[in-house]
Amino acid sequence: MFDALLLEKTDAGFVAGVQALDESRLPEGDVTVRVEYSTLNYKDALAITNRSPVVRAWPMVAGIDGAGEVVESSHSAWRRGDRVIHNGWGAGETRWGCLAGMARLNGDGLVRVPGSMTTRQAMAIGTAGYTAMLCVLALERHGVQPGHGDVLVTGATGGVGSVATAVLSRLGHAVTCATGKPSEADYLQRLGARHVIDRAELSAAGKPLQKERWAAVVDAVGSTTLANALAQTRYGGVVAACGLAGGHDLPTTVMPFILRGVTLAGVDSVYAPIALRREAWSRLARDLDPAALESMIEDIGLSDAIDKAQDLMAGRVRGRVVVEV
Ligand SMILES: NC(=O)c1ccc[n+]([C@@H]2O[C@H](COP(=O)([O-])OP(=O)(O)OC[C@H]3O[C@@H](n4cnc5c(N)ncnc54)[C@H](OP(=O)(O)O)[C@@H]3O)[C@@H](O)[C@H]2O)c1
Repeated sequence: MFDALLLEKTDAGFVAGVQALDESRLPEGDVTVRVEYSTLNYKDALAITNRSPVVRAWPMVAGIDGAGEVVESSHSAWRRGDRVIHNGWGAGETRWGCLAGMARLNGDGLVRVPGSMTTRQAMAIGTAGYTAMLCVLALERHGVQPGHGDVLVTGATGGVGSVATAVLSRLGHAVTCATGKPSEADYLQRLGARHVIDRAELSAAGKPLQKERWAAVVDAVGSTTLANALAQTRYGGVVAACGLAGGHDLPTTVMPFILRGVTLAGVDSVYAPIALRREAWSRLARDLDPAALESMIEDIGLSDAIDKAQDLMAGRVRGRVVVEV
C-alpha cells in the first residue's frame, strides 16, 4: 500500500483527498519508482482545486513531477536503486502522477538525478524550474548573452520566475523582476535581481511599440503583460513565453516582429524531447546556486498539499513548494 493524493469525480462532484492505495492499482509502465519528493506546480494547483480541466481521466493520482528511487525496471536504461526525475508527459493529467509514495512510469521519459543534486532539490526545481531553464536555453539559442542588456522576468516570485531570476543572474545577466508582491523585493534581490518593478507597469493595455528596454524576456504571465513585454523589447531581442498566470490571451500586434525583429520563442516542458530535458537538468546542476534554491523552498507533507494548492491559486505562495511523500 502507498499513500496518494487522489482526485475523483463522484456523484457528489469533485473530491480530492489522500488515500492508501494498493500497488496492484498502479498503471502500466516499465519503471516503478518509490517517490521520495514531489512538488506543487501551477498546473498541479489547477488540478487539485479543479479550477481548469487539467485532469482528463478519473480517478487520477495528482502530481506532474516526482523524484525518487527505482524499485523495479524492465527498461534497459534503468536499474533498481537509480535516482530518477519525472516531469510532465501527461502525469497527473492523463496518467497517474507522482503526489504518491509509488509511481509507475515510462523509462524513456525519465532523467537521472544529476550527481550533486538531492531528490529534494530536484523537486524544489520541479517542472517550474526546469521550464525556467528551458526558457534560458531558448534565449541562448537565439544569441542572447550576458552584457547584451536588461532581461525582464515576469511572475518573478513564482516558481518559474524565481528560478529564472537566480539562473540568469548567476550567468551574469542584469535581471529586472516584475512582481505583484513589492514586499518580496528583498527576496528577489537576494536571488540576484538588479531591479524590481511593479507588475502593474506591464498589466494595462499599451501601445504596439514602446520604449526599448529589454534585451530579452522570460514571461510566465501571458496576456497584456506579454504584449507589453514584446512592445518594450529592443531591436533583435528575444522573448521566451512559457506561462499564462495572467491569462491565456495575447493582445499584441505584428509591430515588434516586423519593425524590431523581435523573436517570440514558445517554451513547452510537458512533451519536450529527452535530449533537451537532459541538457536542462545538467545546466540546472551547474548554473543554479543551491543556496538560492534553498531560499525558495517551502517543505510540506502530502496531507498539506490540498490547502497549499488553494494558497498557490490565490497567489499566496512564494518560490517553490516541496512535498515529502
Ligand atoms: N510551458 C510550460 O511547459 C510550463 C511549465 C511550467 C509552468 N508553466 C506556466 O508558467 C506559469 C507560472 O508557473 P509557476 O509554477 O511559476 O506558478 P506560480 O509559482 O504560481 O507563479 C506564478 C506567478 O505569476 C504571478 N501572477 C499570478 N497571477 C497573476 C496575474 N493575474 N497577473 C500577473 N501575474 C500574476 C505571481 O508572481 P508575482 O506575485 O511575483 O507577480 C505568481 O507568483 C503558469 O501559468 C504555468 O502554467 C508552463
